[in-house]
Amino acid sequence: MNARVSQVMSQAALSSTAFAGNALELRGVTKTFGALAALTDVTLTVKPGERRAVLGSNGAGKTTLFNCVTGDFLPTSGAIRLFGEDVTRFPAHERIRRGLRRTYQISLLFTGLTVTENVYLACRGVSRGRFSLLRPGRSDVLMARARELIDAVHMTAARDTKVSELSYGQQRQLEIALAQAGAPRLILFDEPAAGLSPAERADLVAILTGLPSHIGFIIIEHDMDVALRVAETVSMMHNGRIFKEGTPREIESDAEVQELYLGGGHG
Ligand SMILES: Nc1ncnc2c1ncn2[C@@H]1O[C@H](COP(=O)(O)OP(=O)(O)OP(=O)(O)O)[C@@H](O)[C@H]1O
Ligand SMILES: [Mg+2]
Repeated sequence: MNARVSQVMSQAALSSTAFAGNALELRGVTKTFGALAALTDVTLTVKPGERRAVLGSNGAGKTTLFNCVTGDFLPTSGAIRLFGEDVTRFPAHERIRRGLRRTYQISLLFTGLTVTENVYLACRGVSRGRFSLLRPGRSDVLMARARELIDAVHMTAARDTKVSELSYGQQRQLEIALAQAGAPRLILFDEPAAGLSPAERADLVAILTGLPSHIGFIIIEHDMDVALRVAETVSMMHNGRIFKEGTPREIESDAEVQELYLGGGHG
């Protein structure tokens, strides 16, 4: 790691650990679509650096929860605070500026460009922000940072490969690299293991557990094995509500959870 990059990274780590409050707070968040309540009175707190899994059956409201946090949806009622600031009505880009990321869909990758070019562009994109630690024009620093992110998602050997030639699993790994461009403090992963082989899932677990400790994340995941291995805390959702929170061990052994979720023939 060169000195400039390591300085940038330690500044990013400092700016996040310096925050003593909660990374994310939802208070009584409700989201309705016509007559359907996708979220009902959801209250959730995530600490800086915390790794939380959100589990629940199809249609439980997990992705809607993410969409309210990112600003893709405005909640019908309730409040959302990000690093102590009320962002309930903020547009998505204002939340990104405050260190929030989510993994993107495959379609947002530049398929005609290489892995390195994609990550470099993501780093350059976020470096234009007013609060950025990286100034535009520092292409050597950006390239070094891009290389680091590629190494961190185990794609060193594929760094000159075009996205269109990557496997599906590699594309998902690349999305995790892109989500780390800039100085994220909280990343939302929506089913990152979906469609991955067992070997790719093991790799994903290593990538997620290897994220810098100041970066917190929330992972929605149907693969309990992946979710419970990467998370420190778990929120269980059902019918738009969080009905249980605990450690992976508590959740695994909970009778109600087993009946509703594990025993439900969930795929
Ligand atoms: N934009 C929308 N317009 C109307 N209804 C929606 C919209 N987004 C989600 N819903 C509905 O809200 C409910 C919760 O959906 P959501 O996508 O949040 O579930 P989920 O827990 O992510 O499910 P899955 O595990 O299948 O991804 C569902 O009944 C869904 O049909
Ligand atoms: Mg979903």
